[in-house]
Amino acid sequence: MGIKTKKVVLLTGASTGLGLSIAKKLLKEDFFLVLTSRGSSLGRFGENGISASDKVWIRELDVTNNDQRVDLILEINQRLGGVDILINNAGFTFRSVLEHVQEEERIQQMNTNFRGPMELIRLVLPLMRGKRSGQIINISSVGGMMAMPTMSIYSASKWALEGATESLWYEVKPWNINVTLIQPGFINSDSFMHVRNTKKSSLSQRGKDTYQNHYLNMASFVEKLMKLSPSNADDVANKTVKIIKMKRPPLRAAGTIDAHIFSLIRRILPRRLYHFILYYTLPGIRTWGKK
Ligand SMILES: NC(=O)c1ccc[n+]([C@@H]2O[C@H](COP(=O)([O-])OP(=O)(O)OC[C@H]3O[C@@H](n4cnc5c(N)ncnc54)[C@H](OP(=O)(O)O)[C@@H]3O)[C@@H](O)[C@H]2O)c1
Repeated sequence: MGIKTKKVVLLTGASTGLGLSIAKKLLKEDFFLVLTSRGSSLGRFGENGISASDKVWIRELDVTNNDQRVDLILEINQRLGGVDILINNAGFTFRSVLEHVQEEERIQQMNTNFRGPMELIRLVLPLMRGKRSGQIINISSVGGMMAMPTMSIYSASKWALEGATESLWYEVKPWNINVTLIQPGFINSDSFMHVRNTKKSSLSQRGKDTYQNHYLNMASFVEKLMKLSPSNADDVANKTVKIIKMKRPPLRAAGTIDAHIFSLIRRILPRRLYHFILYYTLPGIRTWGKK
């Protein structure tokens, strides 16, 4: 079967974690896959038994790199006739209270989780509109609907992604282009080990600092919730494939069981009560601010 007869899927951050799980599920389907990762992570595809073939391209793509974004979309447009399904999965998390995020880090977080996906969408839309079909899936987070302490800039990046994606849903519907935000909650995985510290949050955790208890309590809390989560990356990947196959995919979809619960709590509780309950259930909250 010629490659042009298959729908072309472009997936970012595909060499590990959720991206790798999605890639493995999609390999079993009848798609042409363009699997991407940063140059330093490309070797992981081979380690996981994934190699280039007549239905798989493996390409370097740092989503924050404009030249790489433009060159890749140009190559896909010229050789494969455009992207049919874009999955913006690449992302990372800074653990830091707001006071410890400096401008450079703020830009880095927004560039990866928000601006990179936006630019990719901008580049794929002209051909999707021309074909009057296409699908865009943005991997958001429960952090995009409920903000937690020490995750201010991560939440900001996902809230930005949520807002822009919701606008996009209205904008491109007339061209039959489907747009979905998948919101995973805590995924049972080791991805908490990839959480990065800002310069100041790193220093704060090492020495005596007024925010030290925020970090110590939140880091172990998040790790515990991830280990206890009944949903793993394969569950979120299955959900992603299910959404690709839907005739009318939803704008928002919970990616994990806890995401359904968080979404319900967020919708039914009055705001003040919700914030009050969340505050008093934060781990070690009575010790925060005591140093
Ligand atoms: N794990 C969770 O519990 C959870 C919960 C909610 C939402 N999410 C979201 O799910 C998505 C995947 O996260 P994950 O859990 O699979 O985390 P992960 O295991 O840390 O994987 C993140 C992926 O994003 C890639 N990435 C980071 N910066 C990039 C850049 N500038 N350009 C291209 N790729 C880049 C990483 O590549 P490298 O290996 O090269 O760094 C890696 O492949 C993210 O958007 C995350 O926010 C995860």
